Amino acid sequence: WAIHAPYVAAINRLKKERGAVVLAHNYMTPQIYHGIADVVGDSLQLAIEATRVEAEVIVQCGVHFMAETSKILNPAKTVLMPDMEAGCSLAESITAEGIAEMRARYPGAPVVSYVNTTAEVKAASDICCTSSNAAQIVAAMQGDTVIMTPDKWLAQNVAAQVPQKRIVWWDGACIVHEQFTPQDLRDFRSWHPDLKIIAHPECPPDVVAEADFAGSTAHIIDWVHREKPAQAMLVTECSMASNISDQLPEVEFLGPCNMCPFMKKITLEKVLWSLHSMSGAVEVDPAIAAPARRAVERMIDLSR
Ligand code: 13P
Ligand code: SF4
Repeated sequence: WAIHAPYVAAINRLKKERGAVVLAHNYMTPQIYHGIADVVGDSLQLAIEATRVEAEVIVQCGVHFMAETSKILNPAKTVLMPDMEAGCSLAESITAEGIAEMRARYPGAPVVSYVNTTAEVKAASDICCTSSNAAQIVAAMQGDTVIMTPDKWLAQNVAAQVPQKRIVWWDGACIVHEQFTPQDLRDFRSWHPDLKIIAHPECPPDVVAEADFAGSTAHIIDWVHREKPAQAMLVTECSMASNISDQLPEVEFLGPCNMCPFMKKITLEKVLWSLHSMSGAVEVDPAIAAPARRAVERMIDLSR
């Protein structure tokens, strides 16, 4: 912490000068999460919070699609992205042409796109979802068949929860969550029989099947706070356990450490530079932003 303290102090001072708030995803490093964030949360919470921001500037500590979502929902604000290269393997896996291809293959089926997509893909979709509301959104769609893009594993996990729908999916995956295997989970359980395993639904279904609970990053945090297991394995990005371990001294966190290379592009140094220079403002073409906003707002309305 000593080496981070000058950056934390400088950022917090500049935030006041610029009238800025920092929205940080649960996968940020502990120094961002605890040191400079005004709001922390999962993708849905951050999207909802973005609609409520009154400050002039939002610094998005997360990946690019999250900054685009904030800009789409609150277009009058300046939304700064400390590193434009902070992408996402899911967002990169599909384009608006991919959505058109799925619509041609399954005529009339509604398209539910994960928020981990570009504004163009959101604009081409009927509605968005996040990992915290995907089953609820899919269940609310009209018709028997629902197209889910781009995460094939999230789609297959939702299919198990919403058997009344025929779900068809795009072939995208998260490079962090697809690294976990069911054998990893079984091994850790055999070494620690009382271990509670909590997985993110971007993991393959055979991994989720080995877990005690699956949910979005916020739902995982809530579960651990509620259940307070003696030992827990969070089958998700590695910083989550570091971020919540201080408040949960009674819980021992175990398991492999898989980092998201995109999330980890966001550092205190880059946040300081973006606030100092006011560089890295995210723009979304208004012709794309309007239909993309409809898809995200429809999701927010349906998840209330
Ligand atoms: P949630 O925080 O919405 O669960 O999403 C996880 C994720 O991978 C974001 O990139
Ligand atoms: Fe994308 Fe996976 Fe990284 Fe989340 S953890 S930003 S889904 S690559």
